[in-house]
Amino acid sequence: MPTLRTARLILGPFEPNDAVEVQRLAGAREIADTTVSIPHPYELDHAVAWIEQQRKESVRGRSVTFAIRLSDRTLVGSVGLRDIDPEHCQAELGFWIGREWWGKGYAREAAAAVVRFGFEILGLNRIYAHHMVRNPAAGRVLESTGMQREGLLRQRVRKWGRYEDVVLYAVLRDEGD
Ligand SMILES: CC(C)(COP(=O)(O)OP(=O)(O)OC[C@H]1O[C@@H](n2cnc3c(N)ncnc32)[C@H](O)[C@@H]1OP(=O)(O)O)[C@@H](O)C(=O)NCCC(=O)NCCS
Repeated sequence: MPTLRTARLILGPFEPNDAVEVQRLAGAREIADTTVSIPHPYELDHAVAWIEQQRKESVRGRSVTFAIRLSDRTLVGSVGLRDIDPEHCQAELGFWIGREWWGKGYAREAAAAVVRFGFEILGLNRIYAHHMVRNPAAGRVLESTGMQREGLLRQRVRKWGRYEDVVLYAVLRDEGD
């Protein structure tokens, strides 16, 4: 698993000893609120199992998940490509940033690096992502990677017992920055 460096961030593997901080950051209700695969409440066991699962999926080539760290190694979030599909050369981009680090451009910076990695190193042709309609900040991050809005998936997910409309975005290799 490579390490990617951007102007302010280091993107590398999650380590088992990140579990306590993953639980604290991903355990915030604001993170579960606009994602579909992060449980809430989020126990330490979830974090431990999730870190191990990411390691296995990376070995199998099914996904690649990067811890987003500042230069002093402080963990600020996660970004990755999942459902890597070698037949159709595509994958899904996903990310979260710890609540105390929002609004600093870290998601944009990390997402751009991972999209570039997907095209240049994984040889993907298409990278797509979804966000809930009521989460426009994620849409801004996706647009900043060169993604275009492809459609609206009505009531695609159920969150906190309510169906939610989801926007589908994608960028093609030829369109990447
Ligand atoms: C979405 C998320 C990753 C954004 O992280 P971030 O580091 O704050 O994002 P950035 O600072 O890089 O950029 C946020 C962009 O959204 C914009 N934004 C923030 N709140 C907004 C709002 N309510 N409406 C519209 N745009 C908004 C910001 O202005 C910025 O856009 P700009 O750079 O064009 O000005 C973060 O809020 C998060 O982790 N949310 C919970 C998990 C999640 O939703 N993940 C994405 C699932 S698809």
